[in-house]
Amino acid sequence: MFERLSTSETDPILALMQAFQADPRPNKVDLGIGVWRDAEGRTPVFQAVKTAEERIWHSQDSKIYVGFRGDPGFHAAVSDLLLGPEGDGDWRAASATTGGTSAVQTALALARTARPDLRVWVPEESWPNHWVLARSLGLETRNFTYIDPATQEIERAGLLRDLAGARAGDVVLLHACCHNPTGADPDPELQEEIVTSLAQSGAIPVVDCAYLGFGAAPEADLAFLRRLSALPESIVAFSGSKSFGLYRERVGLCLALTESARARDAVESQLTRLNRETYSFPPDHGARVVTEILTDPTLRASWDTELSAIRRALIDNRANLAASLRARLNSDAFDRLTRQNGMFAMLPLGTERVARLRAEHGLYIVGTGRINLAGVTEATCAPVADALAAVLR
Ligand SMILES: Cc1ncc(COP(=O)(O)O)c(C=O)c1O
Repeated sequence: MFERLSTSETDPILALMQAFQADPRPNKVDLGIGVWRDAEGRTPVFQAVKTAEERIWHSQDSKIYVGFRGDPGFHAAVSDLLLGPEGDGDWRAASATTGGTSAVQTALALARTARPDLRVWVPEESWPNHWVLARSLGLETRNFTYIDPATQEIERAGLLRDLAGARAGDVVLLHACCHNPTGADPDPELQEEIVTSLAQSGAIPVVDCAYLGFGAAPEADLAFLRRLSALPESIVAFSGSKSFGLYRERVGLCLALTESARARDAVESQLTRLNRETYSFPPDHGARVVTEILTDPTLRASWDTELSAIRRALIDNRANLAASLRARLNSDAFDRLTRQNGMFAMLPLGTERVARLRAEHGLYIVGTGRINLAGVTEATCAPVADALAAVLR
């Protein structure tokens, strides 16, 4: 049987990571892989996580299965964080998932159960796995305009024109904040226009929230998600990988906002079925850590402080790179980096320049031109800007 198999395509970011590790040059810089790193190149465990784990170690006396949809305490903690406490006429159905990837996958599988013929609308620039996940479920994907490639600003008119083509029951994938890969998020006016468009078409937003707190304080980063959640129905796919630094623990939540108690109960039973058909029970350790942090005021304050340090570093890295490129290229074309959010930005490089940066300067960038600003530290900013200027001039 295995003789029939051919090799599956390698993930380009994984391949880049391997090439970086094999590169012997001491001054190489990795702007490829999408994890947060500090100025020393480390991705440390949050102190709030360490303390929560210590408490769990002392208090947990069993590792027996939790429910098919995970721990209701985790559902409530994350749903309160994202939307505030559940009120009357607010019917939420949730399931813990194995990270944000599985939260998006579960959200799409849930929508497909209700509407097998739905189409999934994906921003033309997006996390590549959005297409992979939709297609693996046999769903048709449609792209909608997102960025003007010349300015790397959102192409508002094109975006709204394309979204107007969505049908009732279609799914529209949107990034809650810190859009991956462009860093360009809709301003409040465009957020409202998107909500109005979805209200008119009856398409359902699936809001991918993987970088909460990386652009602005969580309350501000949640503004778009909260606007979208005012629609009659929506689904949130939350990831705890970046915002809690719990990458390998696989923390995620699929949260559906429904219109009635009956719909909520039906969605809960479908979410149970979806988990049973895949991994039965979602992992619990990371979810328990997040619950402990969010429900304890001291740990929550510590998490907030640590998250804001990450955010401040990203904002500083953006400002330093923008200033360095302005000085070297005598152009304000990269000032937009300071107006965009989160870990990522797109640079107008093309595959040839990306290859030159790697070969001549030891600078590792994804072929699309996406960079991870976490890698542009005080120590690397000048050589990175020199290398970029050398190929962009
Ligand atoms: C936009 C977006 N959504 C979801 C995820 C999923 O993250 P994870 O499965 O590691 O929680 C990522 C990770 O890179 C992402 O960039």
